[in-house]
Amino acid sequence: MVVKERDTVYLKGKKNSFFIKAEKGKVFSTHKGNINLDEIIGKPYGSIVKTHIGVEFVILKPTLFEIIMHGIKRQTQIIYPKDSAYIALRLGLTDGMKVLESGVGSGALSIVMANAVKPTGRIYAFEKNEEYIPQAYENIKLANLEKYVEIKHQSLEEPLPEEEFDAGFIDVREPWPYIKNIKNALKSGAPVGFLLPTTNQVSMLLNELKKHDFLDLDVVELLERHYKPVPDRLRPEDRMVAHTGYLVFARKGF
Ligand SMILES: C[S@@+](CC[C@H](N)C(=O)[O-])C[C@H]1O[C@@H](n2cnc3c(N)ncnc32)[C@H](O)[C@@H]1O
Repeated sequence: MVVKERDTVYLKGKKNSFFIKAEKGKVFSTHKGNINLDEIIGKPYGSIVKTHIGVEFVILKPTLFEIIMHGIKRQTQIIYPKDSAYIALRLGLTDGMKVLESGVGSGALSIVMANAVKPTGRIYAFEKNEEYIPQAYENIKLANLEKYVEIKHQSLEEPLPEEEFDAGFIDVREPWPYIKNIKNALKSGAPVGFLLPTTNQVSMLLNELKKHDFLDLDVVELLERHYKPVPDRLRPEDRMVAHTGYLVFARKGF
């Protein structure tokens, strides 16, 4: 596989790594010298490119995991791959689905959901804070998924399109006032998920979901532990991200 124009490329050096778009006629500057991007277009992934002072980088095709963890700019808390990959399965995301998302934040979850519903599905993301939208689009573009995400500057306080969405995911601090609006926007039986950082928020949400006859309520927390990759002294890393959020899933009832 060779690098095509506008591919996102992961340049990995011994000390530094960069995510860049392979654009014709552009020069990428690092503190270890410049790389003429025309030089990398057409090169096979896995080959080496040198800066003008001879520092080497290997040209890698980034995975979505690498783009989310190391490539995108975070302007809000993001949903991490350990949660977003699971969310995609729990919502049953597949080609052709129309998915409601709110808020968009940095677009980390939009990337995973867009990848799951492409090429004919779409993510419709509603974001209250206009200033987050341009960077969220930039992040989604880094994953080359911008064709599959529409971001609208709109709060969940305002009415959503009715009975429109096959699934939904809501990541806003206080979703419970908007449950009626969210319910109206989902098709009958559609799966929906929420992420909340604290248990008292989960209780508030559960009460509201019950009040609105949602079915199959489920609360889950996913823990991820990394290990030091040292064969003779294999043991967990000293530090771990012990808590990201609680996931709540349900289906729209009737
Ligand atoms: C934690 S961030 C979402 C992060 C996102 N899931 C990601 O993975 O990058 C929460 C977002 O919800 C937005 N938000 C908060 N209240 C909202 C509301 N009532 N309607 C729409 N968006 C809202 C915030 O502006 C913020 O961008």
